[in-house]
Amino acid sequence: MYGRLPIVKMIAATLALTAAISAVMLSINWNGQEASTAAPKIDDLLNVMIVLSSFVFSLVMVMLGYALWKFKAKPGDESDGEPIHGNTRLEVAWTLIPTIIVLFGAGYSWKVLNDIEAPAKDPLIVDVFSQQYTWSFGYPEQGMAYVKGEFHVPVNRQIAFKMHSGDVIHSFWVPEWRIKKDNVPGITTTALVTPDKVGTYQLVCTELCGFGHAAMRAKVVVEPPQKFKEWVSGLKETIPPDWRATIKQDTETNPIEEIGAGGA
Ligand code: CUA
Repeated sequence: MYGRLPIVKMIAATLALTAAISAVMLSINWNGQEASTAAPKIDDLLNVMIVLSSFVFSLVMVMLGYALWKFKAKPGDESDGEPIHGNTRLEVAWTLIPTIIVLFGAGYSWKVLNDIEAPAKDPLIVDVFSQQYTWSFGYPEQGMAYVKGEFHVPVNRQIAFKMHSGDVIHSFWVPEWRIKKDNVPGITTTALVTPDKVGTYQLVCTELCGFGHAAMRAKVVVEPPQKFKEWVSGLKETIPPDWRATIKQDTETNPIEEIGAGGA
């Protein structure tokens, strides 16, 4: 038989390798600037997942390395390997450890999602209209004000973005906010974001939607409430009729027939 595995040494090696990999991985700023209340929660979640993944990777590498070194065939040994029938302790361990990790990850992610999707009392509604390959925006509570290619929002207030598409699936993504949401023809999807840093950002389409996908962007301005009010009341256009029809569409849980749209 194989004798006892040097369990303590293997655990120590696994933890050391986990620490080394995590130190490198966590030193990288994967997602860039944080500019919404959701961003730090999502980044923390990502960091925890990086450490857990490093642990699993390290555990496998240490066990693989040990097996390669310890059980290497001697030169000239042409005999078959020992027939082995199960190892209860090992099987319990390799079932239990991943189960605990996955359940922890599920619970933690659930909590984060619950936190960042908690609706505020008085969100500002902004309609997001997408079509190949432009973005436009409507403010239903501000006299149906309408603007193309750029939108402003006040800082430190929850924004309820209502997503609409006139043709194919597009996806709304402001990297500094971390939130992504698909714009799907025929239904209205919603993304809640509370921007917490004044600044200028970029809205990126993050669903391959055709030839001009890479250029489908819009300017995002987060500003103090007073400046936002001035900007929105200065808008001349109102939401075109086709897009207005999409506002009445139902949500993803209860879709209705697709309504043709397109401001162009
Ligand atoms: Cu719209 Cu990609």
